Amino acid sequence: MSDSSRLRIAVQKKGRLSDDSIALLKAIGIKLQIRDRLLIAHSTNQPIDLLLVRDDDIPGLVMDGVVDLGFIGQNELEEKMLERQAAGKKAEYIELRRLDYGGCRLSIAVPNEMDYQGIQSLQGKKVATTYPFLLERFFKEKNINASTVMLTGSVEVAPRAGVADAICDLVSTGATLEANGLQEADEIFVSKAVFIQRAGEMPEAKQALISKMLPRMDGVTQAKE
Ligand code: PRP
Ligand code: ZN
Ligand code: MG
Repeated sequence: MSDSSRLRIAVQKKGRLSDDSIALLKAIGIKLQIRDRLLIAHSTNQPIDLLLVRDDDIPGLVMDGVVDLGFIGQNELEEKMLERQAAGKKAEYIELRRLDYGGCRLSIAVPNEMDYQGIQSLQGKKVATTYPFLLERFFKEKNINASTVMLTGSVEVAPRAGVADAICDLVSTGATLEANGLQEADEIFVSKAVFIQRAGEMPEAKQALISKMLPRMDGVTQAKE
C-alpha cells in the first residue's frame, strides 16, 4: 500500500545507520513496528511510512523525489551527488540536520608490506573502491595518476586477490583492515549521518509534520549530549 499523503522516510535496512535512525524516530514519538523482511513499515500513530532500503539507494530516492525524507551517511550522499552530476541527473536535496551517529571515515589503505611514502606512492597504481567519484576527486586534487577499480563489495580483499594495489574504503574500528593485512594510509572523507529532505514543493500537511519533528529531534539529540 502506498499513500502519497503519508510522509515517506527512507532508512537503511541493515547497517551502520539503521538502529540509531529508527531509535531517533521512536524517541520523537513515532510509533513503528518493523517486521523482518518487510520493505515498508507504517507508523501506527502518525501519517508516516518508513522505506527500509540499502543505504546506497537512499540519496537517489530522495533526489528523484520518491521519498520525502532520508537518513544517510555524508559519504554516500556526496558520492551519489558527484555520480549524478556527472550523469546529468538531478542531484538536489535539503540538509535538515546533521546527526551525531554513523561516524566513519573513507580512507586509503595499503598492504602492510607496501613501502608507503605518502600519497605519491600511489602514482600509477590501481586502487579498488566502492566510492570512485570521491576517490577520483581526491586524486585530482593531489595530482595523482592512479586508476580506480570499482567494486561493490569485498573491497578489502582486492590487494590479496591481485585485483588492485591498494583500497579506498570506509573504516570505523579498523578491524576489517587489520584482518586483511592492510593499514590506513590517508583519510579522504570524514562522515556522519545526516537527515535530508527532497527538494521541491512539499504539501502543507507534510511540511507541518516535518516542522514538528525537527525540534523534537533537537531535543532528543541535546538530551544525549
Ligand atoms: C564498511 C566497510 C568495511 C567496514 C569497516 O562496510 O566496507 O567493510 O565497514 O568497518 P571497521 O573498520 O569497523 O571494520 P559497511 O557495511 O559498514 O558499509 P556499507 O554498507 O556502506 O558497505
Ligand atoms: Zn553502502
Ligand atoms: Mg561494507
